[in-house]
Amino acid sequence: MTDTMRALIAGRGPDWVLDRIPIPEPGSGQVLIRNRAAAVNNADLPMLAEADPTAGGHGEEFVAGFEYAGEIAGVGDEASGWRVGVPVMGSIPSSFAEYVVADHRFVMPRPASLASEIAAALPTGLLTEHGGLAVSGFAAGQSVLITGASTGIGLIGVQVAKTLGASRVIGTTRSPDKRKLLASVGVDEVIVTSEQDLSVAVLAATDGQGVDVVLDHIAGQVFAETLPATAHDGHVVNIGRLAGPASTIDIDALSYRHLNVHGVSFGFSRDWETVGIIAGLLPEMIPAVERGLIRPVIDITLPLSRPDEIVGRLRSGQAAGKVVVAIDD
Ligand SMILES: NC(=O)c1ccc[n+]([C@@H]2O[C@H](COP(=O)([O-])OP(=O)(O)OC[C@H]3O[C@@H](n4cnc5c(N)ncnc54)[C@H](OP(=O)(O)O)[C@@H]3O)[C@@H](O)[C@H]2O)c1
Repeated sequence: MTDTMRALIAGRGPDWVLDRIPIPEPGSGQVLIRNRAAAVNNADLPMLAEADPTAGGHGEEFVAGFEYAGEIAGVGDEASGWRVGVPVMGSIPSSFAEYVVADHRFVMPRPASLASEIAAALPTGLLTEHGGLAVSGFAAGQSVLITGASTGIGLIGVQVAKTLGASRVIGTTRSPDKRKLLASVGVDEVIVTSEQDLSVAVLAATDGQGVDVVLDHIAGQVFAETLPATAHDGHVVNIGRLAGPASTIDIDALSYRHLNVHGVSFGFSRDWETVGIIAGLLPEMIPAVERGLIRPVIDITLPLSRPDEIVGRLRSGQAAGKVVVAIDD
């Protein structure tokens, strides 16, 4: 094994730069993972822009990326639960690299039958969508509205909700041509927000009652529109803010219906919270992945050596599902 590895570095310009850097060593409680594939997330874009020194960014360099899949390559002290060679996946910073170091408690087993290039697109979606449903107290038999069901993580959220026994999943997109995609992952009722009024359409689809749980990936005024579309005592969980963080809400819609509003940002979770989120999902989600009930939708797989194409696809806004990065060319 050489001492250096290839990685995509942010903080040098508008795009990631492919470079060689030292292979990290696992410290106490950590494992070293030989990474085979990574996946791109929407949050990679603002982080890249904020670091760009040519456009007033902070210029602090870091290895980009949040999701990986590969196998254990080294085990530090106090991480003896893992063995070299075990297939794994997970969500951790600095994943656009040949090797990743992770807290052993945050690593998820990867079913051996699941190729790294598919598995890499799952961890953030599994953690976020399962975590969002858990925060809401979701129970089998309840109905779920997923705004931005066409997002990379929303497409996984639909399947997570179905696996956990959702009676009905309603999903939104702005794009009429994504109806089929949403239906293919299990959305029962697709609402196209560029053509339909979100609140009216959800109430029509639920006999005027509204849904029990909302997973909101969009925020902005879409968040406000979910409130009158939520059943009495229901839960609205904001996950993403693709339409911006500000929203003008009708507090009557919130209060008269006794709604519960939650915000989650799992990237900012404290370690003990992350441990609980992962422990909560493993028993049901990993067997469901093994049985093929949950699969990421992959838009395209591109090699690590083409950072311009990777970021270009993300910036295009045209990706249907996840952009995967194959680590080895
Ligand atoms: N809370 C957490 O812990 C957590 C974790 C991971 C991600 N997130 C957040 O979740 C969101 C989704 O992430 P992702 O990586 O899965 O996204 P993504 O795959 O990049 O989503 C892209 C899709 O979102 C829709 N979209 C984009 N801008 C929109 C807008 N202004 N209004 C409505 N729809 C819009 C478009 O679909 P259509 O054309 O079909 O409308 C687009 O194809 C992001 O905001 C991300 O930061 C949060």
